[in-house]
Amino acid sequence: MASSTSFLCFLSLLSLLLPSISPSPTSITIPLSQFNTNPSSDLYQNLTHLASISLARAHHLKNPQKAPVFTTSVSSHSYGGYSISLSFGSPPQTIPFIVDTASNFVWFPCTTRYICKNCSVSDSNPPIIPSFIPKLSSSVKILGCLNPKCGWIHNNTDSQSRCPDCEPNSRNCTQICPPYLILYGLGSTGGIALVETLNFPGRKVQDFLVGCSLFSSHQPAGIAGFGRGLSSLPTQLGVKKFSYCLLSHKFDDTKKISSLVLDSESDSGKKTRDLSYTPLIKNPVVPGKHAFSVYYYVGLRQITVGGHKVKIPYKYLSPDSVGNGGTIIDSGTTFTYLSSNVFELVIKSFTGQMKNYKRAEDVEFQTGLRPCFNFSSQNSVAFPAVRFHFKGGAEMALPLENYFSVVGGVDAMCLTVVTDNVVEGASGGGGGPAIILGNYQMQNFYVEYDLRNERLGFRPQSCK
Ligand SMILES: *[C@@H]1O[C@H](CO)[C@@H](O)[C@H](O)[C@H]1NC(C)=O
Ligand SMILES: *[C@@H]1O[C@H](CO)[C@@H](O)[C@H](O)[C@H]1NC(C)=O
Ligand SMILES: *[C@@H]1O[C@H](CO)[C@@H](O)[C@H](O)[C@H]1NC(C)=O
Ligand SMILES: *[C@@H]1O[C@H](CO)[C@@H](O)[C@H](O)[C@H]1NC(C)=O
Ligand SMILES: *[C@@H]1O[C@H](CO)[C@@H](O)[C@H](O)[C@H]1NC(C)=O
Repeated sequence: MASSTSFLCFLSLLSLLLPSISPSPTSITIPLSQFNTNPSSDLYQNLTHLASISLARAHHLKNPQKAPVFTTSVSSHSYGGYSISLSFGSPPQTIPFIVDTASNFVWFPCTTRYICKNCSVSDSNPPIIPSFIPKLSSSVKILGCLNPKCGWIHNNTDSQSRCPDCEPNSRNCTQICPPYLILYGLGSTGGIALVETLNFPGRKVQDFLVGCSLFSSHQPAGIAGFGRGLSSLPTQLGVKKFSYCLLSHKFDDTKKISSLVLDSESDSGKKTRDLSYTPLIKNPVVPGKHAFSVYYYVGLRQITVGGHKVKIPYKYLSPDSVGNGGTIIDSGTTFTYLSSNVFELVIKSFTGQMKNYKRAEDVEFQTGLRPCFNFSSQNSVAFPAVRFHFKGGAEMALPLENYFSVVGGVDAMCLTVVTDNVVEGASGGGGGPAIILGNYQMQNFYVEYDLRNERLGFRPQSCK
């Protein structure tokens, strides 16, 4: 008798702890589209803007800021990314979210009076930002401070330190989870945490932790964190594998859509047909750099340009004990970032092999990209092929449009990879991943994050 009572207690406790997920097919497919609120008709501005946000994001990912009180790892950008729509609440409200594999938290703009500073180029023509309206939902709840999910946001697992207004050992304390403030490389957002129903066709996930942002700067849409942490979307849903195919960036506004697939099937070690796999590398554990534990590290072992090996010192290819070096893959970065030591080696290989073409220094100056070449007097141009070689033998041969882009009409092209002038190892500089693989380089690739088997799979595929 006693044992059956405690078993029942155990069951009801479990049902409190686990998100209640109704029986459902194991996979969910969500349309994935490009997110670009900042259409600029100026050719230079498009590339320049993408180059500068890619760099700002790289700085942020390499040097995650510690917010004074509230911490969570974050992303810095919005433009040049990809978005999905998610439906929260009862009845469901559907709003777009940027897909970000380098952060954990999921949040949406959450009031009709959402304040978004610097969310468009022209303040005279501010974008209409879709927001979630809590009072229209019957299933919304404000997250309580004692709820363990509050500890996911506020990194002190100890409820006594995050809930000072609660009596010790109180079970009925009504203090809400303290507001979050997320600092970005560029901008910030803040608000209060909710638990709300997340609706998919045929599946409802109750008590999903989501942030209700009241203000932001530089964040014209919510963000769905897909990183390796408790509060990320894949973790909260118990997803074992997710995959996407990234539509080509043509800087155009045509509403093309591909898919993001969330797969919860639990027992499959099977490889997906035609995918090349590379293991996900163990994250560096660095005190104070919690964000590094969120990223997806891969073992990039070599870059070849025109078949020639770029001699990259190993220290850049593998994270050391303080988290310097290594490669991460990030859906939220546009142009791939290479730390300057690596970049210069790659550039040297390019310019050496392309010395018969005229450098377009004016274009380099205007876009911040290099090298750029002026091909106006050329009938045909031979570009060196770029390949990434990963641990385990997987190779990624980049289509030309994934690393060279036309600017200035049709006669100049630039390498779409960014760097900064931070020299690794110099005091105060460096730190963090040396290479951030951005979404521009993954256009028309199908990419699978196989979390169960700790590997990343990819294949070239037309995503349209
Ligand atoms: C820049 O972006 C705008 C809007 O997205 C587009 O109409 C224009 O063609 C782009 N320019 C170039 C050269 O791609
Ligand atoms: C924000 O926008 C204002 C005016 O539009 C501008 O002066 C300011 O420099 C911008 N801030 C940032 C950080 O871009
Ligand atoms: C919470 O519980 C304590 C005793 O366990 C009781 O004294 C107190 O009144 C309760 N507070 C509320 C707000 O219900
Ligand atoms: C979070 O807490 C863990 C364990 O207490 C600690 O090791 C880590 O450094 C903390 N992270 C941050 C960002 O404070
Ligand atoms: C390319 O070079 C030609 C002359 O050789 C010049 O007229 C043109 O403006 C240059 N284009 C760019 C984008 O620099």
